[in-house]
Amino acid sequence: MNQKEIVVSGVRPTGKLHLGNYFGAVQQFLKMQEQFDCYFFIADYHSLTTHPSPDGLHNSVKQVLAEYLACGLDPDKCTLYIQSDLPQIPELYMILNMNAYMGELERVASFKEKVKSQPDNINAGLLTYPVLMAADIIMHKATKVPVGKDQEQHLEMARTFGNRFNRIYNCECFPEPHAFNFGDNLVKVPGLSGKGKMSKSENENFAIFLADEPELIRKKMMRAVTDTGPTEPNQPVTEPVQNLFDLMKLVSTADTLQHFTETYNNATIRYGDLKKQLAEDMIVFTQPIREKINVILSNTSLLGKVAKQGAEKANESANKTMKEVREIMGFRKFY
Ligand code: ADP
Ligand code: TRP
Repeated sequence: MNQKEIVVSGVRPTGKLHLGNYFGAVQQFLKMQEQFDCYFFIADYHSLTTHPSPDGLHNSVKQVLAEYLACGLDPDKCTLYIQSDLPQIPELYMILNMNAYMGELERVASFKEKVKSQPDNINAGLLTYPVLMAADIIMHKATKVPVGKDQEQHLEMARTFGNRFNRIYNCECFPEPHAFNFGDNLVKVPGLSGKGKMSKSENENFAIFLADEPELIRKKMMRAVTDTGPTEPNQPVTEPVQNLFDLMKLVSTADTLQHFTETYNNATIRYGDLKKQLAEDMIVFTQPIREKINVILSNTSLLGKVAKQGAEKANESANKTMKEVREIMGFRKFY
């Protein structure tokens, strides 16, 4: 039998989805659900390392689920579930923690960043974040993981933990998972602050959310950071301006991009015009998704049905893996 490759990916419910999540992750999911055996989930356990608020958690999970559906994820084509609906995840996470070393975890870039950004809450969950993520991925024996560039190192860790398990127990339980993107490179969508990636955990004025109203998008775009402008033809492009061009590549037509590239190169560009055009193109892109999000959010019974169907399918796969893992490790029943 020709088995389809297995795909796993998740998004943390730490806020609404933005264009970075869309182009870095969800757009890949949409294509992948047509050809692979896909498990897409909402990483609610992961959000506890930074966002431990019960009401906030529930609302954000609901929001992301509605947004996944509004973007076109189809529960009949992929397994769409909530991480905490799988009790097997904390179990595998605990098991993998026994073979994860302090030194390697302390060297992970995302951990070092969090140590700086939340010095009052350097919890063990932050340190073992890549172990939990590895559990998510190898639970379904995935080989392809569609994620943005920022997750590359976590994928490397997932391979390390899976391979280490295979070696220690002399088995071939887990295949190697790799970060995946249909293009040649993993995507990094910039934010509007002039530097760094678009992110829901940073200042939300610097991110464009799929659910943002048109007026808000216009406002955010007008405040996007630029520079003082080119003073002579063919000057090198600075990071904040390059970021706006990069956003334009995602949502605008090739003609629009060419027009503003030319006006930059002959030093006649007006950043105000570029921002206005970019705002309008973002609105055209997000509008149909935003309208669907609002309809789906008010349909609680649909959300419940989708979550239940996904939980059942994901549990089936997770039970199968854990049965094998327990057997391999020597957890055998006396009764
Ligand atoms: P955030 O960083 O905004 O909190 P998540 O960590 O939940 O978002 O990311 C969910 C998915 O979206 C991951 O696959 C991640 O790689 C991708 N992603 C997030 N931000 C970006 C971005 N600016 N560009 C490309 N991909 C991104
Ligand atoms: N760490 C990912 C992020 O911050 C979210 C995530 C958790 C994930 N588990 C995963 C992504 C498994 C892919 C596969 O975006």
